[in-house]
Amino acid sequence: METRVAEIADRIYRLSTFLPAVGPKGFTFNQFLVDADEPLLFHCGQRALFPAVSTAVARLMDVRRLRWIAFSHVESDECGALNEWLAAAPEATATHGAIGCAIWLNDQAPRPPRALANEEVLDLGGRRVRRLDTPHVPHCWDAGLMLEETTGTLFCSDLFTHVGDPPAMTDGDILGPAEAAENQFGFTGVTPATGPTIRRLAALKPRTLAVMHGSSFSGDGGALLEHLAGFYEDRLKKGA
Ligand SMILES: [Fe+2]
Ligand SMILES: [Fe+2]
Repeated sequence: METRVAEIADRIYRLSTFLPAVGPKGFTFNQFLVDADEPLLFHCGQRALFPAVSTAVARLMDVRRLRWIAFSHVESDECGALNEWLAAAPEATATHGAIGCAIWLNDQAPRPPRALANEEVLDLGGRRVRRLDTPHVPHCWDAGLMLEETTGTLFCSDLFTHVGDPPAMTDGDILGPAEAAENQFGFTGVTPATGPTIRRLAALKPRTLAVMHGSSFSGDGGALLEHLAGFYEDRLKKGA
């Protein structure tokens, strides 16, 4: 198992592990490293991936420099290896939204997490990440995303999930493959709040979408998010 590294925005790195046996065409599991004075890792990966992903981080910097470990929601691909990362990086603090800390991290993490309020900014020194509460989008009550403000990079978690092993970065169509994956797997719990939540993200006009499963996207992220919101609103109308 190998984790590949690609820089998708200035000092933001995609760490991608392709698992060919998952789903019909295989599936990528992507973590993102924000290199700053206080480096932040977004998504931990599953525990089984930790040796490969931590080896990839070590190619970029000393893993012990990590100061923040963040993720969207409690699932194994998002945060399964959290405790392994906290052990490897003794100065690192896990950070999550207030709900996620209350329902899980305060109890399960080996050291106290830092709860971030909705819209709260973490200044990493050279990079700034803003926490965005997005309950149940893509799924789970504790869900939230992060925007890195200096590069306009939105860490999308499972939004825009698509299968296979496409290129690290594209300016082409990821919406079609993402809609196909949603139609096949139904991983988003679509509610009346789904469309408005995604439109709120669109208004941030991200220039890079850091996608957890599939290619990251460079271009008009706001327009793409508007289309995605429309897709879910249509599903809700059809009761699909
Ligand atoms: Fe998920
Ligand atoms: Fe995921």
